[in-house]
Formats: sequence, C-alpha cells, structure tokens
Amino acid sequence: TDRYAVIGNPVSHSQSPFIHTEFARQTGEDIQYDRLYADLDKFDEVVGQFIKDGAKGLNITLPFKGNAYRMATELTERARAAEAVNTLTFKDGKIYGDNTDGVGLVRDIVSNLDFPIAGQRVLILGAGGAVRGVLGPILAEKPASLTIANRTLIKAEALAHQFSAHGKIEAVGYEVLAGRQFDIIINATSTSLSNELPPIPAGVFAARTLAYDMVYSKGLTPFLRRAQTENAGMLADGLGMLVEQAAESFRIWRGIQPDTRKVTNELRDLLA
Ligand code: ATR
Repeated sequence: TDRYAVIGNPVSHSQSPFIHTEFARQTGEDIQYDRLYADLDKFDEVVGQFIKDGAKGLNITLPFKGNAYRMATELTERARAAEAVNTLTFKDGKIYGDNTDGVGLVRDIVSNLDFPIAGQRVLILGAGGAVRGVLGPILAEKPASLTIANRTLIKAEALAHQFSAHGKIEAVGYEVLAGRQFDIIINATSTSLSNELPPIPAGVFAARTLAYDMVYSKGLTPFLRRAQTENAGMLADGLGMLVEQAAESFRIWRGIQPDTRKVTNELRDLLA
C-alpha cells in the first residue's frame, strides 16, 4: 500500500481523501490517503516525518502551497510560474513539485462544462495566490482577451507583468468594468469564503456568460447569486475544479487518468 495525504491548516474539511480513495477504488490502485495537519511553523517538520514514514506523495492546501514550492528540489514549469505547489512526489530522494490547479480549472470549464476558453473574453476577479496558480493554463488556451480586476490594482498589475511572457493581460480596478461584457467571469477572490461579494459593477454578465466561482458550496455563493440575478447564461462552482486538480495529481502519481464525472456527482450528493 502506497501512502499519500493532503496537508493543510485547517485540513479537516478537505474532500481530497474521499476523492483519491474513490479514484483508487475505480482504478484498482492500492493506496492509502489521509489528512495531515501541520502547525503553521511546522510544515517542513511534518512533511519530513511523512517522507521518513515512506510516503509517496502529498497534496498541499492552504496555507502551505508556498512552503511546498520552496521545499521542492525539482519543479515543473507550471509550478514555477505559479510560485506555488499543490502536488509533491517523493522519489529517489528527490522532491518533485507540480501545480495542477490551473489544468484542473481549465478541464472543468472546457471538458466538463463544454465551454471553450479559446477566443473568449475572460475576466478574473482577484489577484492573490489562487489567481497566480491558474493564469498560465488559462493563457495557454488562447482567450481573445484576459482581464484581471482587483480591489488593490497594483497586485493585478504585478501579475499581468509577471505573466507577460505567457500572454497579454489587462489589469484593471472594478469600476472600469461598468458596462463591459465578458464571456467567462471567474471569481478567484476569497469573498465567497466570508459570504461577501466582490464590487462588480452592473452590466458585465451577458446572456451567454459563464459565471464560475472557484469556491464550492452547498448552495449558490454570493457571486453566483449575483450572476443569476443578472441573468448570466451558465453558473458553476469550483467542485469540478477540485476533482479535476485531484485527478491530475493522481495521474502524476499513478500514471492512470481516473473518471472524474462520477466522483464529482458523488461529492455533489455528499454535500447536499
Ligand atoms: P491568496 O493569495 O491566498 O489567494 P489573498 O492574497 O488574500 O489570498 O487574495 C485574496 C483575494 O481576494 C485578493 O485578490 C483580494 O483583493 P485585494 O488584493 O484587493 O485584497 C480579494 N478580496 C478579498 N475580499 C474582497 C472583497 N470584499 N472584495 C473584493 N476583493 C476581495
């Protein structure tokens, strides 16, 4: 039995053990997947012990994606661009770091929701770590335009500058959005976690707009309720992204692509 875990603080709410255990059952892989709690200053210590215990890999959730990035001895290009690691693999004394959040989001939108990103006008709300993790894969889809809106404009500008080699990004404040329509609007702020709403002006949602919240919840988040009120064409939360990023981790570790749709449906029932 190969051992894996998700490490975080807090971590008790994490659905990753359920998801990976389902993937393993489905594919016949012999793994054990646990939750690993670490005090904020004990990440390296807890991971070091887990490696000593013979662990094969780790998923990393908040607030440790930067710690994992710094711990990795080898990094994929997408992890390097994200400056964050959500997947560690321990092999031959090396620590491989990858980031599957961006491909998870893109696959959920393009494959599961069947909504192309290529050629579309994309708006991302927020400019924190969640955004940095997904910009590379979104730009790789070649949207017609990519706009980042943030309360603190300088953070959006810094991201636009940092990813300029991957594609063109427009950084704006929220007020500039008034009356400008987008095909895809992704909420990557932390507002849904505190039951708040980003200050979106009127007129940005159109009848064919996909409104996507990277946070998932039982009911609609405040952002998705607002999108619904403004008659956005399609609403989606981040549950599909959660399962897709897990599937990409599973593929990295086990070399097998699990069936995500079934697990997402099971998880949706579990949350209801
Ligand atoms: P992380 O790096 O973990 O994603 P973060 O850097 O705190 O966390 O990012 C949170 C994001 O949510 C930021 O873009 C933040 O906007 P600011 O950079 O202007 O702080 C955004 N955010 C949080 N609360 C918000 C609110 N009430 N309205 C608009 N944006 C909000």
